[in-house]
Amino acid sequence: MDVTVNKLSPLGTEIAGADVETLLNDERIPGKVLSLLEESGVLVFSQLGLDDAQQAAFSRSLGETVKKDQKGWSKEFPDIFNIAMDADRKAGAYMKGTFAWHIDGMTLEIPSKATVLTGRVLSDAPGEGNTEFASTYAAYDRLSDEEKDRFADLKVWHSLEVTYKRDNPNGSVEDLARARAEPPKLQPLVWTHHTGRKSLVIGTTAATIEGMDDDEGAAFLADLLERSTRPEYVYSHTWSVGDMVIWDNRGVLHRALPYAEDSGREMHRCTIMGDEPIQ
Ligand SMILES: [Fe+2]
Repeated sequence: MDVTVNKLSPLGTEIAGADVETLLNDERIPGKVLSLLEESGVLVFSQLGLDDAQQAAFSRSLGETVKKDQKGWSKEFPDIFNIAMDADRKAGAYMKGTFAWHIDGMTLEIPSKATVLTGRVLSDAPGEGNTEFASTYAAYDRLSDEEKDRFADLKVWHSLEVTYKRDNPNGSVEDLARARAEPPKLQPLVWTHHTGRKSLVIGTTAATIEGMDDDEGAAFLADLLERSTRPEYVYSHTWSVGDMVIWDNRGVLHRALPYAEDSGREMHRCTIMGDEPIQ
C-alpha cells in the first residue's frame, strides 16, 4: 500500500493512502497503531471511508470496545455510537457538553483508552465542528520544577453536576438530575502512567481541588486548563468525509468546535476500554 505518514503540529500523525483491507487483516497493524498512538496522541487516517462493519472490526482489533443497547447506539454494531445533534433534546444537551475541553470517563473507575471517530456527514460552515486536541503529557512537561513538586499530591474532584451547572446556568431540572446521577470522583491531578510518563488530568469535569475552597480550586484548574490549551499547543482537525481520527484518551484533552443544531453533522464513534486506573 502506498502510505504517506506526516507528523502534524503540534501533535498527531496523519496517515494518508492506507488500504482498508490491509488495516483490517494484517495482524501486525493493531500493535503498530497502538504504539504510534501512544507516541503521537492523535492519529488521522485521511479519507479512509470505513463503513460501520469495518469501523467496528478495526476498533475491536485495538482492544475491547464499549457496547451499549441504548438510543443513539447502532443496533447492528452495538459498539458504534452515532454522534448527531438531532431533534432529540437530551442528545442535544449532551452534545453541547463536548464543546468544552475534556477527557472522557473522568467519573469512571478506569477512563477509556482510545476513541475511534469517523466523519460521515459534515457541517458545511468553515471551521464549524472541527475536533481539537491538546496533549496533557506536554502540558505536564511544561510545568516548572517547583510546580511539578507542588502538584504531585494534589487531588481533583471531577463532577458532571458542577460542570453541567457551569455550562448550562439555565439548564432543565431533568438534565441536572441526569448529571447528578453520576457521583463525583476524586482523581490525582498528575497521572503517572505504567510507561513512566506523566500527564495532567484536567478539563471541564475538573470541579475543584481537595483541600482548597471551591472558588480557589476552580480558579487554579481554570488557569491550568488555559495554559494547557493555548492555540500553539492545539491540533485542530478539519474533517473530510471518510476521515478516521483516533486519539489516546489517557494523554490528550479534546473538544468539538460548536456547530449548528441543523447542520446535519454526523460522526460515528467507537470507544476502546481502558485498562489503567489514574494513579
Ligand atoms: Fe469526548
